[in-house]
Amino acid sequence: MKYKLRCITCGTIYDPDEVEYTCPKCGDRLGTLEVVYDYDEIKISREELSKDADMFQFEKLLPLEKNYYKVPLKVGGTPLYEFPNKAEKLGINRFFVKYDGVNPTASYKDRASAVAIAKAVEKGYDTIYAASTGNAASSLAGLTAPTHLKSVIFVPAKAPRPKIMQIKIFGAKLVPINADYDTVFDLSMKVGEKMGWYCRNSAINPYLLEGKKTGGMEIAVQMDFDVPDYVLVGVGDGTVISGIYKGFYDMYKVGLIDRIPKIVGVQAEGAAAVKAAFDAGEPFKPHDLKANTLADSIAVGKPRDVIKACKYVRTSGGFYVAVSDEEILNAGVELASDMGLFSEPAGSASYAGLKKLIREGRIEKDAKVVVVVTGNGLKDPSSYEKLFEIKSVEPDIDKIFEYLGKE
Ligand SMILES: Cc1ncc(COP(=O)(O)O)c(C=O)c1O
Ligand SMILES: [Zn+2]
Repeated sequence: MKYKLRCITCGTIYDPDEVEYTCPKCGDRLGTLEVVYDYDEIKISREELSKDADMFQFEKLLPLEKNYYKVPLKVGGTPLYEFPNKAEKLGINRFFVKYDGVNPTASYKDRASAVAIAKAVEKGYDTIYAASTGNAASSLAGLTAPTHLKSVIFVPAKAPRPKIMQIKIFGAKLVPINADYDTVFDLSMKVGEKMGWYCRNSAINPYLLEGKKTGGMEIAVQMDFDVPDYVLVGVGDGTVISGIYKGFYDMYKVGLIDRIPKIVGVQAEGAAAVKAAFDAGEPFKPHDLKANTLADSIAVGKPRDVIKACKYVRTSGGFYVAVSDEEILNAGVELASDMGLFSEPAGSASYAGLKKLIREGRIEKDAKVVVVVTGNGLKDPSSYEKLFEIKSVEPDIDKIFEYLGKE
């Protein structure tokens, strides 16, 4: 086996066939597992990596068997856009957006689902389940659709309709529960365990983070291995941010890059549980709360990957920042109207965080910054509706001119 599993809290190292999900000694919350490689054995060169290939171009650094199952859709290889005029306006040196809204089901989560599916096939499961605020759910539903696997999806019944519709149209078994994400997560674990299905729940399944790291790796490749000073991303459970750190870390360990960027987590003020744990200092402990934000994908009060999300961000020299829902919506409007990038609120949080940090003088003027947009705005357009008044006009040429004059 080219990798082992290591507990993030007690450091015990396991063979992959010894444990399925988390460290038996430390439990689900503290005992999430890291995938560790024998980096000296991995030979990978800059020349073999391309700026638009799918995520499996990093297969040498993924925990997969030789003839692993690859979903037949293009996952990853998403664009990294640079906006020089915006950098000037913001007062920083260079500004980039990694836009993951163009994945097959329109969010960053496809990177994790693709790996979870490969693992489920390798392990001989026929059903995968997930609890999700909506994106991991629609992602698992979409990526299992062209496979022989079945998926069972647990979501808060109040998840945005477009996400629910994705799950239905992809043909997954949908279980919408009248409860918040944190409750849905715990219930799903009980059902999934009883049924013997493969678990694609954030943090519990150690391989998801490995899929999520490919977004960080792509940033390094797309910047010609001259990594940014900061990468900002919205945080809920803390797996995406941990994955982005791990992507840079693995590349550093095999000699592809010479440093790791500061990783900055952005949370909604009403759901800043990872920030609370981080700010309380070491040893990091969960600081659970009741989540309240319109950014549904990061409305998490009991973050499952909180320990990694704190440890990795600290090691990178980064930190956490919280933004209001209003700042998130305004950032979303600016991403769309100035840059042509439609982002769901959780995806806009990263940019809202950058604006706040610049206002507070916490980002240097010569900094090179990447913000990650993790979900397409079409996932949850209704959140933005309150910002716009849309009036119709009668089919009359004078009325139309009058209307145009008023605009
Ligand atoms: C669009 C989007 N952004 C950010 C996140 C946060 O990821 P994590 O929960 O791993 O912190 C999610 C998770 O659902 C998401 O769907
Ligand atoms: Zn442990």
